[in-house]
Amino acid sequence: MTLHPSFPKDFVWGTATSAFQIEGAAAEDGRAPSIWDSFCRQPGVILDGSNGDIACDHYHRMPADLDLMRDLGLKAYRFSTSWSRVQPDGIGAWNDKGLGFYDRLVDGLLERGIAPYLTLYHWDLPQALQDQGGWAERDVALRFVDYAETMALRFGDRVASITTHNEPWVVATLGHEQGIFAPGIKNRRTALQVAHHLLLSHGMAVLAMRAAGVKSPLGIVLNQGPIVPATDSEHDRSRARLEDGLLIRWYMDPIFRGRYPDDVLAHLRDDAPQVQDGDMRVIRTPIDFLGLNYYTRSLVGSEPIQHPPGTELTDMGWEVYPQGLTELMLRLHRDYTLPPLYITENGAAYQDGLVSGGRVPDPLRAEYLRRHIGAVGDAIAAGVDVRGYFCWSLFDNFEWAFGYSKRFGIVHVDYASGLRTPKDSAYWYRDFIAAQTARQAVTP
Ligand code: FCB
Repeated sequence: MTLHPSFPKDFVWGTATSAFQIEGAAAEDGRAPSIWDSFCRQPGVILDGSNGDIACDHYHRMPADLDLMRDLGLKAYRFSTSWSRVQPDGIGAWNDKGLGFYDRLVDGLLERGIAPYLTLYHWDLPQALQDQGGWAERDVALRFVDYAETMALRFGDRVASITTHNEPWVVATLGHEQGIFAPGIKNRRTALQVAHHLLLSHGMAVLAMRAAGVKSPLGIVLNQGPIVPATDSEHDRSRARLEDGLLIRWYMDPIFRGRYPDDVLAHLRDDAPQVQDGDMRVIRTPIDFLGLNYYTRSLVGSEPIQHPPGTELTDMGWEVYPQGLTELMLRLHRDYTLPPLYITENGAAYQDGLVSGGRVPDPLRAEYLRRHIGAVGDAIAAGVDVRGYFCWSLFDNFEWAFGYSKRFGIVHVDYASGLRTPKDSAYWYRDFIAAQTARQAVTP
């Protein structure tokens, strides 16, 4: 076990999930459909034709799942709340049964010594709001602010932090430009307007939660990774610069500098979003932390991109590139004035299965985690303020357009029976956390 000397005393170790990917109970106790329920019903959009109706059945198995987390020595848990479970129409009436579920989840975590990290929006907009135009409509930002404020007032004194949005780039680009995620829209102009409304709703929600007296640290989670030109050609370099603008600077610049990047605006021309006076000031409202989800780097050039022979790839076809996480953090640290960082997602899909003796051997995942944790340690040693690391994911779960065909969990889920089996990587992570936290305890 290699321990890294640079992790600070209070550094937290956890795992992450999201509501739609694990809960199931899609039509129970008053929950109304979200855009992902509707999207899954369109033929051909989910690789295995599946949906989130049952998923990991976490809604019914929650107490036992929390016991499992405790037994694995996890200190923190990042989860999301389903908006359409707590406020079925996204406006108006609140659903006590839905809120009660999250009360029990949060209290159950605290009882077991696990710090709850709440994410408000992990992509599952109430369908009723999509019927009114969804995130393309500015008014939905106001609906989100109501949702955020109500949730923060109810849970804010019990959770370790509140994240407004998970990966707005994915919502905008995959959901509204490429149309491969819910709500399945293919229109770049709409996508950029959606991105603006997501950012605006983030800033407005932070202001509203603070004004309401919420004390919990508030922030946002962005998916990022280095964008690298595939060759040294001028073409590839300028494409990489643009992709970097669309993925990283389009979100970082407004949040930390209060403006969109000029080169991207110039490129977008008529597709640039409509921005009202004062929006940018709201978006740059100071936040208490920034979450980064890191999986890989991206090579950019003429399509299709060929990885050099011998490149290590996960089951998603994503390159295993741990040093990209260090590079990313150092670059952000250099270019922006950052609040404390958390690695809010990092992990790998592999085709794991049960073998005799009830084990699930997944040596590649443990190695992936070990190397990426090392990359975080390297960034800390170089001066970046990082406070926690969350492995994606606690469970195998519904991997969006890939359905149940990709397994990211450190705990294997047999979807037919619901049976959970910790994989070898879960035991590796348990032992690592125990040794690492013991070491951190004596860190000066
Ligand atoms: C991230 C998502 C998460 C999961 C991982 C693999 O983009 O936030 O829900 O699907 O990718």
